[in-house]
Amino acid sequence: MIPFNKPYLSGNELLYIADAYQRGQLAGDGFYTKRCSEWLEQTTGAQKVLLTHSCTAALEMAALLCDIKPGDEVIMPSYTFASTANAFVLCGGVPVFVDIRADTLNIDETQIEAAITLHTRAIVPVHYAGVACEMDTIMEIAKRHNLLVIEDAAQGVMASYKGRALGSIGHLGTYSFHETKNVISGEGGALLVNDPSLVARAEIIREKGTNRNQFFRGQVDKYTWVDVGSSYLPGEIVAAFLWAQLEEAKQITAKRLELWNEYHRAFKGLEAEGSARRPIIPEGCELNAHMYFLLLKDLGTRTAFIESMKRKGVQCVFHYVPLHTSPIGKKHGKTPANLMVTNSLSDRLVRLPMWIGINSTLVHEATHFQLRGLLKNEI
Ligand SMILES: Cc1ncc(COP(=O)(O)O)c(C=O)c1O
Repeated sequence: MIPFNKPYLSGNELLYIADAYQRGQLAGDGFYTKRCSEWLEQTTGAQKVLLTHSCTAALEMAALLCDIKPGDEVIMPSYTFASTANAFVLCGGVPVFVDIRADTLNIDETQIEAAITLHTRAIVPVHYAGVACEMDTIMEIAKRHNLLVIEDAAQGVMASYKGRALGSIGHLGTYSFHETKNVISGEGGALLVNDPSLVARAEIIREKGTNRNQFFRGQVDKYTWVDVGSSYLPGEIVAAFLWAQLEEAKQITAKRLELWNEYHRAFKGLEAEGSARRPIIPEGCELNAHMYFLLLKDLGTRTAFIESMKRKGVQCVFHYVPLHTSPIGKKHGKTPANLMVTNSLSDRLVRLPMWIGINSTLVHEATHFQLRGLLKNEI
């Protein structure tokens, strides 16, 4: 069986974990956390990077930092993971779902303005598959309407837009290091704070609402509870694992790009004959090869394709059930316009296994065979 995902290990993970153990500080914000956050700051250009337990945790910090209050509206795509919306709903916020672009499956920037009301506080672009949203337009709309922008770059580590790292363009950005991502620590994430005026409060929110970081820097003589917050920082064991991955992030990305390009070349013929559509990467978007997907003819073809690939020993998966159709999305969200593209593409998208060490030739040969067979049977 070729699994959909197999976590990549650089080889230094256990060495650094043993070192963290020897150093004797196992709580957060020690030697390895510092290494990781400084590396991420240098690589992305973010003003401040704070490691978190997950991208979900980073999104929850973002919602608190933006002071989302009951009834505040937050514009986002429906085609995303539950955490994008859930973080704001926890504060009483209302996700407002906007349609996606047919090329990138990212939020359609031309539909954002129509969704803005007196209650809108923020926009959350999600960089699907590590391909950038149209950030220049989104930032311009946000500026004109005095809105905050939180980039959900869960899938965007090491990808960029016009030379700028994803996650470093909005006021805030969030990363995931979940084991299904390119660079991993099991569970893990980071908050990128790009607006300098949000840095001090971000540190406090992450440390249970206390000014503990300021105390450790000698800026206050005792630390106390000064704001709301929670415990969002990972321990040193997780950070040590992450450091072994970040050290190799460039090589990991290069290896994944090779696989991505191989798939892309291999499926050119299928696209030309109309059996499947390949991903479209707009100019200015530098890929991290997080994911390779195909868009098939319809839901029936996709279901049959996933089943027949499984029988051949290749695990393929579909992606997001749109949030506006989910029970909680319906209860807490608003969908002002028809999400035609979201409804259509979410039924037709299939993700192929892609991980370092995979026999990708086997996967694309099986894909060709199954897909052509399925389409022929239908005719
Ligand atoms: C777009 C998006 N946002 C947020 C998340 C949540 O990430 P995590 O598992 O690190 O909390 C995911 C997870 O896959 C995601 O795809």
